[in-house]
Amino acid sequence: MSRAAALLRSLLDIGTYLQGVRLAHFASYSHVRQVRLLERGENVSFAPNVSFRNAQRIRIGDGSHIGEFSIVWAGNSTGCITLGRKALLAPNVTLTASDYGIDRGTPIMDQAKVERDIVIGDDVWLGANAVVTAGVTIGDGAIVGAGAVVTRDVPPFAIVGGVPAKVIGWRPEPPGAGADATEPREASEVPA
Ligand SMILES: CC(C)(COP(=O)(O)OP(=O)(O)OC[C@H]1O[C@@H](n2cnc3c(N)ncnc32)[C@H](O)[C@@H]1OP(=O)(O)O)[C@@H](O)C(=O)NCCC(=O)NCCS
Repeated sequence: MSRAAALLRSLLDIGTYLQGVRLAHFASYSHVRQVRLLERGENVSFAPNVSFRNAQRIRIGDGSHIGEFSIVWAGNSTGCITLGRKALLAPNVTLTASDYGIDRGTPIMDQAKVERDIVIGDDVWLGANAVVTAGVTIGDGAIVGAGAVVTRDVPPFAIVGGVPAKVIGWRPEPPGAGADATEPREASEVPA
């Protein structure tokens, strides 16, 4: 079939237009209407295809950015997601503040969700395809490497990577600060 014939076939298919309507509806409920519910500071930016849920329980601090195709889903009833100031989320980052129940005997999708807050500190960088599970706190200045699945709290200034995410390094002090660049921070410095 020629390209012109293929185009004509698409244009004559009512499904093409219905799919356009479905995509518009999706953009509305997953982004446009959610954005109105967000609590956000100054100079916050996010790609137009970021997916939000229950955005009345999502707070984004000044200067933060959320990359394209990211998913930021707060819980249906209690689970909140908080991003600090200047948090940087690469493309395809997933934050979800609830898990399905997993008892045997009932399909997982029919079980009540367990909701726990996610807290992302100031100046945190989440690399592409990182996943942060419910209940995790990531301390100020931490870095989550590309592809990590973060299931436990991350101390401030740690660099974590892998599945599940483990500490693979520490952000260095600026030149002249005189501190040991590899020195771990105290666990007590993790925000509550
Ligand atoms: C986490 C990151 C910042 C670390 O960078 P770095 O400090 O230069 O680290 P290095 O490349 O020196 O690697 C140090 C060690 O960590 C490992 N490592 C690096 N990134 C990793 C990751 N994402 N997951 C698991 N391990 C990782 C390296 O294999 C290396 O291990 P080794 O010492 O056993 O060889 C970087 O690898 C990363 O993931 N950046 C995110 C990029 C991204 O998503 N960009 C999107 C645009 S915003």
